[in-house]
Amino acid sequence: MPDTTPDPREVAGPLLTTSGQTRAWGARLAALLRAGDLVVLTGGLGAGKTTLTQGIGQGLGIRGPVTSPTFVIARVHPSLVDGPPLVHVDAYRLGGFAELDDLDLDATLDDSVTIVEWGHGLAEDLTDDRLEVLLDGEDTRTVRVVPHGARWVDVDLTTLTEPVPLPVLSPFDDAPADDELSDDAPADDAPAHDSTEEA
Ligand SMILES: Nc1ncnc2c1ncn2[C@@H]1O[C@H](COP(=O)(O)OP(=O)(O)O)[C@@H](O)[C@H]1O
Ligand SMILES: [Mg+2]
Repeated sequence: MPDTTPDPREVAGPLLTTSGQTRAWGARLAALLRAGDLVVLTGGLGAGKTTLTQGIGQGLGIRGPVTSPTFVIARVHPSLVDGPPLVHVDAYRLGGFAELDDLDLDATLDDSVTIVEWGHGLAEDLTDDRLEVLLDGEDTRTVRVVPHGARWVDVDLTTLTEPVPLPVLSPFDDAPADDELSDDAPADDAPAHDSTEEA
């Protein structure tokens, strides 16, 4: 039977009812991130993982757009503000750790912020230090964060628990390309799979 005891380090985030809120929360998370960090995003198809990565990218000030095109598994977004690049990985189509290993994320990990969608059960082997972010729900979306490793022991995650105001008034309001993404349209090309189970 799966162990359903909550992880004592788990932090519960606010409800995220729009993609704008998800992005704004991602930008807040970005403020805690630095080169060398790994964030593993977990949640079903459409849970908001790519949307969250867009917000993290906006917060980091990287060159976008962050998407999940069907055939791209990993993409490097350079910083526009002299910060670390964002390495965005969509592990959905990867067959296992060997294929993740082939991406050579080790080579960029130390100097980048690495975000892996569908990384649960795969990306753990990359480093002991990581943030696991779990997105749940379709209508009411909740987010949880589980920090792992020494990197996160003394980091205050309180900002991640605070509600995101609605409507979101953020520095990104004048970024029309992103704001025009409607909540009905997928943030990326939907994968060809019709399964919502983790691959
Ligand atoms: N908090 C939210 N509330 C409502 N819709 C959202 C929210 N977060 C994301 N979405 C929308 O859900 C759809 C799927 O999001 P996406 O980020 O592509 O999911 P995933 O990468 O997990 O498959 C997109 O249309 C996106 O705009
Ligand atoms: Mg995605």
